[in-house]
Amino acid sequence: MANTATLEIDGQRHEFPLVKGTENEVAIDIKSLRSVTNGVTTIDPGYKNTGACESAITFLDGEKGILRYRGYSIEELAEKADFLEVAYALIFGELPTKEELDKFHTDIKSKSVIDEDLKKILESFPRSAHPMGVLSSLTSALTAFNPSSVDVSSPEAMYNAIVKLLGKLPILVAWTMRRHMGLPLEYGDSSLGYIENLLKMMFQKPNEEYVQNPILVNALDKLLILHADHEQNCSTSTVRIVGSSHAGLFASISAGISALWGPLHGGANQAVLEMLEAIKEDGGDTKKYMAKAKDKADPFRLMGFGHRVYKNFDPRAKIIKVAADEVLGDLGIDDPILDIAKGLEQEALNDSYFVDRKLYPNVDFYSGIIYRGMGIPTNMFTVMFALGRLPGWIAQWREMRLRKEPIGRPRQLYVGETQRPFKDLVNR
Ligand code: ACO
Repeated sequence: MANTATLEIDGQRHEFPLVKGTENEVAIDIKSLRSVTNGVTTIDPGYKNTGACESAITFLDGEKGILRYRGYSIEELAEKADFLEVAYALIFGELPTKEELDKFHTDIKSKSVIDEDLKKILESFPRSAHPMGVLSSLTSALTAFNPSSVDVSSPEAMYNAIVKLLGKLPILVAWTMRRHMGLPLEYGDSSLGYIENLLKMMFQKPNEEYVQNPILVNALDKLLILHADHEQNCSTSTVRIVGSSHAGLFASISAGISALWGPLHGGANQAVLEMLEAIKEDGGDTKKYMAKAKDKADPFRLMGFGHRVYKNFDPRAKIIKVAADEVLGDLGIDDPILDIAKGLEQEALNDSYFVDRKLYPNVDFYSGIIYRGMGIPTNMFTVMFALGRLPGWIAQWREMRLRKEPIGRPRQLYVGETQRPFKDLVNR
């Protein structure tokens, strides 16, 4: 294979180096494009063909349905590792030794406290506020309580900022849910594992002892692992681009949470359940909704189907479908919503519209079903996704800062008015 790509503009030939990744992906390095072509730029709405960075964190092959964190397959990680091990590997590049993992967990626990004044901010939101807006605001507010910016040249300062965030975000997640549900705000129990503690913080009733269910612990652990990173998606690119201005870590993560909120991204898990509820209310006719999804004049889309990158079965969806069956079986849940979900899944998998466009159920089609089974309110689903994605955002932010990437600043092709004289108010 050639080492360069040639571009010809107005009879002038320009050579650009081809660069190869470790998985043999090839990219055209166009860093010199504007300078050698006198200002010619590229147009790529949605960045479908644009590599914004080199990254050593996550590899995914959407055609083959492959997802690996730091070289480890998602299937193996979901089966053999727990969320904190995966978080450590994503952030620092290697799976932790037993000692490193214990220290990591101890350090996270030591930072698992929140300034009492943050409660006042939380309580000032209406209880009806969307939990993603609340979480994004509280994460941003953490900056005010932790004002010194991270010295990225110091591995120790970097490590401290990371464990702080991993310690505090579960509390904010639990508080956001408890406030929404009108429950008193609880602190965790540092004798518990990360997931057990999170479940207890979320679900403990003021007048009852919280009893752990290992099936729920396992399902939540897996869900968080499966969501932990997904290379340069909308929210991760947001974290990298906000961080590239050297805005603080908490501010960058808060921006990522806002990006994740949208229904075309993390908000899809909420949208899936809302869609299933709406279909149920409307009599449960899945065929009607399949027809709507295929009708180009109808804006309705089958939420939880399709993916920008996976044009094959989402490997995460396969793993989580098993966990969903376990949770629902264990909890003895017989939910008409699930029958609708299964009906849609079967119809879509056998419908040429979906097959031809390679639209398969994505991870969010099943994650919402598990969260619903666990008793998590629908509008909290994306908050759970945010907590899962936290290690990925941190890892990508850290990589971007350590690689000393320049500030993110895309170009555009201006198509507006050319210069024109100003018109006075009376003449408009
Ligand atoms: N239902 C019906 N048709 C769909 C769907 C869907 N869910 N998704 C894509 N299509 C159709 C499009 O109409 C288009 O058809 P056409 O070629 O006839 O015009 C074709 O499939 C390609 O769709 P695009 O929108 O170009 O695909 P893109 O890769 O840009 O979008 C996306 C991916 C946004 C995820 C899309 O599939 C979608 O909207 N899905 C529903 C929302 C969802 O589940 N999002 C979660 C994604 S996973 C995550 O963020 C964690």
